Amino acid sequence: MKRLNSQLQDDGAPMELILLLRTILAGCKEISFRVSQGALAGVLGSTLSENVQGETQKKLDVISNQILKDILSESGYVKAISSEEEDDVVGCNPNGNYLVSFDPLDGSSNTDINSLIGTIFSITHAPQWMEPDDPSAFLQPGTQAVAAGYVLYGPSTMLALTTGKGTHIYTLDKTHGGFLLTTANIKVPEQTSEFSINASNQRHWQPHIQNYISDLLAGKEGPREKNFNMRWVAAMVGDIHRVLCRGGIFMYPQDAREPDKPGKLRLLYEANPMAFLVEQAGGLANTGDGRIMEVMPTDIHQRVPVLIGSKGEVETCLEYS
Ligand code: AHG
Ligand code: MN
Ligand code: MN
Repeated sequence: MKRLNSQLQDDGAPMELILLLRTILAGCKEISFRVSQGALAGVLGSTLSENVQGETQKKLDVISNQILKDILSESGYVKAISSEEEDDVVGCNPNGNYLVSFDPLDGSSNTDINSLIGTIFSITHAPQWMEPDDPSAFLQPGTQAVAAGYVLYGPSTMLALTTGKGTHIYTLDKTHGGFLLTTANIKVPEQTSEFSINASNQRHWQPHIQNYISDLLAGKEGPREKNFNMRWVAAMVGDIHRVLCRGGIFMYPQDAREPDKPGKLRLLYEANPMAFLVEQAGGLANTGDGRIMEVMPTDIHQRVPVLIGSKGEVETCLEYS
């Protein structure tokens, strides 16, 4: 089986980017090990602190963030990082050529039930002019990313990665610690009969989303004239992995709970990297108002509504708005 390095070289990735990706993945392997120890190492449960988003941090949120922060700060390749678990941008090497944004542990409510979780990241070039702790360099649209990926800590530890030459899936071979290519150029099926949304928020959705979902639920007897299945992992990384593997539409739409927060998911740490991966696999990623990757961020912790998945189904959903 082909190794990660060899695929990255075939895709024309520069050596420094390959070394940076290997650094991130070394951190993810450590997270994977810590996660697998679970209760034996006392890493489950919550801390007493909240992150900048006002969410109580799980112990594994803090551990995963620290692992990635340390390894990236020491690598030399990175000028600054922004993380879901850091209030501000963290300056690293003033001469580093890259910026890394990450969600160190996605789906952290799943930690205590031994269910799917993962790490999501994206990489852009660091502008020469920026000071290492300047957040403005992170406020670039997702189209500027040079790479994005996630590592899924599931029954297998898997990596989905794009450098803009398709999306490839790798599986961690724990016998030697390498990621091996297990699906090259994965393609999201254009049509689907599976959707993914937290239906408990239904009363807060905008009317057109309510209409769209009720047409899916109406099944064969409704206007869509087919039955739809529903899945919700409560970790975007798990839901998007399923979408990449067998299609579907994943949604976290705008809702009326907190009018100043349009959607739950974070543009830099979740929406943009997943949009890059899914678009490179032939799917679509939209906020309901335009392409996710074209949103110009105004804040590093900005949230956006998310509709991601099979091209035909995202287009159908957009027709309701
Ligand atoms: P995080 O654990 O990084 O805070 O992200 C959780 C996100 C996302 O992964 C998931 O799709 C969604 O929140 C789950 O939301 P609900 O709590 O509404 O199920
Ligand atoms: Mn997350
Ligand atoms: Mn997280």
